[in-house]
Amino acid sequence: MNKGEKLGVKDAILKRHSVRSYNSKPVTTEQIEELINAARLAPSSLNSQPWRFKVVSDRKTLIKFGEKDISRKQSWLADAGAIIVCCADMAGYIKDSQASAFFFRENNLITGDPMDGIDEYLEREVSATEAAKFGASAMNVGISVSFMMLRAIELGLGTCWVGMYDEQKIMELLDIDPLLRIVGLLAVGVPDEGDLPTEHNRKRLDEILLP
Ligand SMILES: Cc1cc2nc3c(=O)[nH]c(=O)nc-3n(C[C@H](O)[C@H](O)[C@H](O)COP(=O)(O)O)c2cc1C
Repeated sequence: MNKGEKLGVKDAILKRHSVRSYNSKPVTTEQIEELINAARLAPSSLNSQPWRFKVVSDRKTLIKFGEKDISRKQSWLADAGAIIVCCADMAGYIKDSQASAFFFRENNLITGDPMDGIDEYLEREVSATEAAKFGASAMNVGISVSFMMLRAIELGLGTCWVGMYDEQKIMELLDIDPLLRIVGLLAVGVPDEGDLPTEHNRKRLDEILLP
């Protein structure tokens, strides 16, 4: 792709791969804002938007992220331009889901059968197990992270979703509100010169398409 040529969504999807080697160029505040704004525009169940992001870009803390007790020594994290700690607001998820459902009902945005018994449906959500609530809110956060990963390609940035970390240690390190849960870390940075797109090692269509 030539410089200045516009990337389509398909190109971004093809180009995206996990980048684990970054050069020392910083990620700018504007770029981070672009990423968070892409996340903000993601869809979510009942428009609950449970995602919350903590951006870490100071080198001392990034180095800590690469250590054994935080990430099982994924030391390349220390070279990232930033790490976006992607959290789910568990309490906000329920509250905002309820508010949206009532808004949809009052404004006739969703009518008929789906709204029948919506109060009981929401009550069940409220009394669901913490694990079930986490699963549901994490699913929404995951979508927002995907949006950031694709937007990053347009910005010439690489990303890698990191799922191996000690949640409690990060909560303490960054003094994150205990009502939040960490869903994943998104490492972001300018890919190192030597970073080459890997071939997508994926299951074939016929392996994933159910008959
Ligand atoms: C939920 C999740 C957790 C992941 N955790 C890690 C991780 O801890 N460390 C890592 O290097 N890559 C991690 N990855 C990246 C995957 O290994 C990678 O996406 C997969 O191998 C496909 O490669 P690709 O992203 O280059 O297409 C994770 C990806 C996801 C979606």
